[in-house]
Amino acid sequence: MKHTPETVVLLNFVCGDIQKLARAVRDKHIYTMVMPYTVPTERLMAEKPVGLIVCRDKAATAHPAELAKFAALGVPLLELEVTDTAAAAQKAVDFCLNVCKCSGNWRMDRFIDEAVADIRELVGNERVVLGLSGGVDSSVVAALIHKAIGKQLTCVFVNHGLLRKNEPENVQEIFARNFDMNLCYIDASDRFLDKLKGVADPERKRKIIGKEFIDVFAEAAAKVNAPFLGQGTIYPDILESIPLDGNPAGVIKSHHNVGGLPENMKFKLVEPVERLFKDEVRQVGRLLGLPSELIDRHPFPGPSLGVRHVGAIERDTLKMLREADAIVTEELLAADWYHKTWQTFAIFVPVKTVGMKNQHRTYEYVIAIRSINSVDAVTAQVVRLPWELLEKMADRIVREVDGVNRVVYDITQKPPGTIEWE
Ligand code: XMP
Repeated sequence: MKHTPETVVLLNFVCGDIQKLARAVRDKHIYTMVMPYTVPTERLMAEKPVGLIVCRDKAATAHPAELAKFAALGVPLLELEVTDTAAAAQKAVDFCLNVCKCSGNWRMDRFIDEAVADIRELVGNERVVLGLSGGVDSSVVAALIHKAIGKQLTCVFVNHGLLRKNEPENVQEIFARNFDMNLCYIDASDRFLDKLKGVADPERKRKIIGKEFIDVFAEAAAKVNAPFLGQGTIYPDILESIPLDGNPAGVIKSHHNVGGLPENMKFKLVEPVERLFKDEVRQVGRLLGLPSELIDRHPFPGPSLGVRHVGAIERDTLKMLREADAIVTEELLAADWYHKTWQTFAIFVPVKTVGMKNQHRTYEYVIAIRSINSVDAVTAQVVRLPWELLEKMADRIVREVDGVNRVVYDITQKPPGTIEWE
């Protein structure tokens, strides 16, 4: 962003809740950035901060030399120790309003206008290619870039055969209805499912899906002949790839996913929401007219149903999972529980058990249901869905999904369980 709003920088002197603090202040329309305590002062001052907030957990080291360096910059500085996050957030907001005299000019409608101007200037008359997954981030980026450059953007939507029921149709329909967009739909289901045949190991499955995805996308992108690649990178992706103490080993996750594209495909990146937190990305999406079914959907892993189908994927068992997953989502929405959970989904368990259907003995597969709440997916708590709702889901699954005769509920917290089963 060239036209930056009034910026307050949160200096991370090791504070576990720093992203929460940064978000809480942004909710008051004050733009915050997070930087490690090791940041060079020139880099910090390049953002023209109107205030600095030192954030440190009680047990963290003080680093007095760094603190003195920041204090000498002549920018208002608040030092605080974070014990109660809500109280710390309030103190930070008071500091921004009363000491830094922030006017509260961080607004998503303004952000959109500025992002559109920036994209136009960056891209000029060139083309941009973007991988559209149907998830929130890539959908919002598609809408934003489209607003800026219209038909100079081509979105590539790859169906890897592991999508949820009706998802390919829904995503295409939503984008066709809301935007007059170049959308290239590639049904590569057979290619993926053939490669996955007989592969039961979760890591191998993930690798095959990832590599195949890059191959299919690269082939399509090469045809578009675009020098720019749009990406749905968001601020937490950036923050979690910055080592706090300057040591690259300390990163939570590596950035970028462009890393997998072939050597000869050198793209320039367009990452218009890289400064936004997820809630802000959703607000931008709403303002751009994306429907709630896209914006407010549960997070969905890249390898999709592939990591919710335990063991080797067969077309018939994948169909069982897809049908069961659709029933779980339908009932969750009908009971008004969808938006009260972070993720709720079905898992295919490749175990056969004995049951009874229409007075006949059956020997069929198991479907598990998992429902969790979380703030950041690092830990997750099992949701106590109403018993009647679970019974309804189970009843419909065993009656409507051929090949399934038993449903179980996963009551494992994270940790020790992960959210996905593979
Ligand atoms: P786990 O299973 O590690 O999941 O507890 C944490 C969160 O990440 C999502 N997830 C993924 N997202 N690609 C993604 O884009 C993946 O390979 C992947 N694996 C897990 C998961 O749905 C949960 O929200």
